[in-house]
Amino acid sequence: MTPYAILEERARAVLPRPVFDYYAGGAGDEDTLAANARAWSAVRLRPRVLRDVSRVDTSTTVLGARIAAPVLVAPTAFHRLAHPSGELATAEGTAAAGSLLVLSTRSSTRIESVAAAAGPWWFQVYLLRDRGLTKEFVQRATAAGARALVLTGDTPYVGRKRRDRGSLAIPDEDFRANLERLTDVALAEQAANVTFDDIGWLHELSRLPVLVKGVLRGDDAARCLEAGAAGVVVSNHGGRQLDGAVATAEALPEVVEAIAGRGEVLVDGGVRSGRDVVRALALGARAVLLGRSVLWGLATEGAAGVQRVLTEVQEDTAHVMALAGASSVDEVTSDLVTLGAV
Ligand code: FNR
Repeated sequence: MTPYAILEERARAVLPRPVFDYYAGGAGDEDTLAANARAWSAVRLRPRVLRDVSRVDTSTTVLGARIAAPVLVAPTAFHRLAHPSGELATAEGTAAAGSLLVLSTRSSTRIESVAAAAGPWWFQVYLLRDRGLTKEFVQRATAAGARALVLTGDTPYVGRKRRDRGSLAIPDEDFRANLERLTDVALAEQAANVTFDDIGWLHELSRLPVLVKGVLRGDDAARCLEAGAAGVVVSNHGGRQLDGAVATAEALPEVVEAIAGRGEVLVDGGVRSGRDVVRALALGARAVLLGRSVLWGLATEGAAGVQRVLTEVQEDTAHVMALAGASSVDEVTSDLVTLGAV
């Protein structure tokens, strides 16, 4: 079993079945969910020999924030389903590992409380049907110290997941953690009329850099930049939105080419090991984000589990870099990989 599979099994053993299914599942037939992990494995490494790798430095920056390794925490919903300390534990574990937290709009803990426990953090934005509510969220996140906004662009409607359909009830206090005054929950649903113009709106509102998450095409990536984005996150929402969508390792090169160094490109989906981190960097990503791995760490051991998951991937990244002949992230260049392996 891989370290990821062992971790997932441990989480399965401690989580109520509906919660595990909600976290683990993907949309439709879960084709894209499976394809994400497989696509990273298909990227073969071309190690360099006879390089001095007695010291390997995995540290880097994302939008100017210094982090211990190019591995961030992806925004995921309702952490109190995984652990009673919820996003507070995630924030603590992330900070202890020298990583960066992307806090979901669907946080089950108040934004201000998470901010107090966090190191550097960004806020993931769902534009909600009620624009006033969205504005309030963004203003609160900005005031609380978010360093960037991550606008999720792939969720005009929530993907249909077969595994957990109807079996998971989100406790009202978790859903309302940041929505106390809301009377009509429909107003807190994702809006289906979000466009490129909203990138500028978010930037004007917050004066923060805006990344767009969920981009899978070069032409869309270029339009995001033209609309004022600081970069994009190549993502298919961990296979939870459009099933059949291209795997992120396959989409990444096209997006990197379109961005052409004018912004930062991050990627998530099926990243499970240091090998995958190095593959993503070699294909042109600045960093990766981990979704489910972090949830499994949180479920099994709270803040310490989050820290452990991140530290293990960081150490694995350093080990893989050493064996591939790269002593810093700048040395993880495109010649380290080859595509089209069988
Ligand atoms: C997510 N993801 C997500 N993305 C987002 O922008 N806002 C959100 O609230 C959520 N919520 C969410 C919940 C759960 C349970 C999962 C598994 C995922 C998607 C997430 O940010 C990321 O894109 C994927 O999880 C990355 O794939 P892996 O690492 O889980 O394979």
